[in-house]
Amino acid sequence: MSNLVHAAVRGGRPPAFARELVRRGAAKVYGAARDHGAVTEPGVLPVALDITDADQVARVAAQCADVSLLVNNAGVLRYSTFIGAPDLDAARLEMETNYFGTLRMCRAFAPVLAAAGGGAIVNMLSVTSFFTNPFDASYGASKAAEWSLTNGVRIELHHQGTLVVAVHAGFIDTEMAALTDAQKISPESVAGQVFDAVEAGQIEVLADERSRDVKAKLSRDHELIYPPIQEFWDAAVSGTPQG
Ligand SMILES: NC(=O)c1ccc[n+]([C@@H]2O[C@H](COP(=O)([O-])OP(=O)(O)OC[C@H]3O[C@@H](n4cnc5c(N)ncnc54)[C@H](OP(=O)(O)O)[C@@H]3O)[C@@H](O)[C@H]2O)c1
Repeated sequence: MSNLVHAAVRGGRPPAFARELVRRGAAKVYGAARDHGAVTEPGVLPVALDITDADQVARVAAQCADVSLLVNNAGVLRYSTFIGAPDLDAARLEMETNYFGTLRMCRAFAPVLAAAGGGAIVNMLSVTSFFTNPFDASYGASKAAEWSLTNGVRIELHHQGTLVVAVHAGFIDTEMAALTDAQKISPESVAGQVFDAVEAGQIEVLADERSRDVKAKLSRDHELIYPPIQEFWDAAVSGTPQG
């Protein structure tokens, strides 16, 4: 089995997905990053990939034609509000990367996975796929769009036997969440849960308590999810300390 894990390396942090695949005995693991020189994990083959670059995505799909598991992990978060942001640049970057980039990857690798007998796609989403937090509003919109594409791609690729796994989590202890000291799950725990799910043929991973709690409340979101967020936002904009 060959696997393409992209954007699993950053700032010297252990590339949890790629490392876990090597540990589980995958025959070949590609590690894709914009700076492929940053991929130094033993047993992982570096591949240069910017998922916003259509030509590069097509080249990588041709180069990695033996892939049977695609992990779409790349993502950006700009902590941008809808109304207060100075312009739409952050919202566009988040949508271009998290939504269009992931969609482009799914489209490019669908025939590769079909040739492998179906294989699997893992899309790294977020608890913010489920609701809007004004502090990272446009990121949430891009993750909601990515969740929607994940559900649609699963239906479209069912005929070729491709398993499409949606992964949701609150904070994970990576550079993206470095600004907060809120409780975080480890990238290693996420990777372990994800590949257990792939092996079990499971379509959704709710990787932490926060994502399990929010998903359970979705049918009553305006009663249970949004009021505390509104309260927190109102306190923040009025400068009232949280009790
Ligand atoms: N950390 C969290 O709290 C958290 C929670 C839930 C979900 N997630 C999701 O988990 C995934 C991984 O995030 P992380 O926590 O590891 O964040 P991170 O530390 O900021 O890493 C993000 C990775 O995405 C890559 N990337 C960004 N734009 C790219 C592009 N255009 N093409 C290719 N690679 C690109 C980055 O590569 P460079 O090194 O080249 O910048 C980096 O390796 C993301 O989809 C994120 O939304 C994170």
